[in-house]
Amino acid sequence: MMKRSKISVIGAGNVGATCAHWAAVHELGDVVLIDIVEGMPQGKALDLAESAPVEGFDGLYVGSQDYKETANSDVIVITSGMARKPGMTREDLLEANKNIITQVVTNCVEHSPDAIIVTVTNPLDTMTYLAKKISGFPKNRVVGQAGILDAARFRTFIAMEIGVSVEDIQALVLGGHGDTMVPVPRYCTVSGIPISEFIPKARLDEIIARTRDGGAEIVKLLKTGSAYYAPAASTIQMVEAIVKDKKRILPCSAYLEGEYGLNDMYFGVPVKLGGNGVEQVIELDLNDDEMDLVKTSAAAVKGSIEAMNL
Ligand code: APR
Repeated sequence: MMKRSKISVIGAGNVGATCAHWAAVHELGDVVLIDIVEGMPQGKALDLAESAPVEGFDGLYVGSQDYKETANSDVIVITSGMARKPGMTREDLLEANKNIITQVVTNCVEHSPDAIIVTVTNPLDTMTYLAKKISGFPKNRVVGQAGILDAARFRTFIAMEIGVSVEDIQALVLGGHGDTMVPVPRYCTVSGIPISEFIPKARLDEIIARTRDGGAEIVKLLKTGSAYYAPAASTIQMVEAIVKDKKRILPCSAYLEGEYGLNDMYFGVPVKLGGNGVEQVIELDLNDDEMDLVKTSAAAVKGSIEAMNL
C-alpha cells in the first residue's frame, strides 16, 4: 500500500504551527504536532484539519504531548524552545534551548530511529550540532534551517530595491545563522544577470547589512517573539526536498568535515538535499575577502559550540 510521508513537528508555537500549516497545504504528508503545553497542539492540529475542506488538501493532522504519536516519522522538524525578545541575540537562547533540544531529540530518536532531523531552534548551528550529537545519527540525517531564510530576506530586499519579482532573484548566504552570516553578492543574480548590473556596491552593502539584521528587525517590530512565516516556509522547502527526493541545491546548516577548511561543526553551505537528507556539500571557490568573512563566522559558531561544554 502507498503511504503518505509522516512529518513530526516538535514545538507547536509560532514556527512549528506555521510549519504544520505549510506542510499540510503543500500536501507533503501527515503531520504530528508535539508540544509540552497541554491541549495546544491538539487544538492547532484540529483547527488545521478543519481548514482542509475549505482549502482542499488531505492528510492526517494530530497534536499530542506523547512522542509515541511521532513513531516512524520520515522527517522530524524541531522548533521547540525559546524565541528571541527585543535586544537579545540568538546566542542568548543557548542555555535554555540546549536542555530542551537534548530532551526533545532523545525522545524523537527513540520512536523514529530512521528519520531525518531538520532543526530550526536557535542558536541554529549550535543546536543542530547538539541534535547530531544526542541522536547519534549520521551527518546526512541531521540538517539545520537557516540559509534559505537568510537568502529569502536578501532576495526580498533586492526585489524591493529594483522593483522586480522576488522569483527572479537568486541569492546565496553562507555561514552561521547570526550576526556574522555571509551574504555573497558574487553569487547573486537577477535571472542570471549579475546583481552589480542593477544595484551599486554602496547600496548593496546597506542591503547586506539589513539582511544580517533581518531577524532582529522583525523581533523589534513584534516585541513579543520572533519571525515565523519566512522561517517556517524555508523549513518546509527543505522538508519538501527530502520527502519528494528533489535533490535541490539549497543553503543549509550542514556538518562539515574539511569542507571550506572547517571541521566538526555545523555551518551554512550549499548542499544537495534529497531523500537521503544532505547528499552532498557543495564547495565553492571563494575569493580571499569571502573566505575571511567565512572564517570570522566559523569562529563565532565554533565558540558557541564550545560554550555548550558537551
Ligand atoms: N518540548 C516540546 N515543546 C517545547 C518544549 C519541550 N521541551 N519546550 C518548549 N516547547 C514549546 C513551547 O511550549 C512553545 O509552544 O516550543 C514552542 C516554541 O514556540 P514559540 O515560543 O512560539 O517560539 P517560535 O517563534 O516558534 O520559535 C521557536 O525557532 O526560530 C527559532 O529562535 C526561534 O528558538 C526559537 C524557535
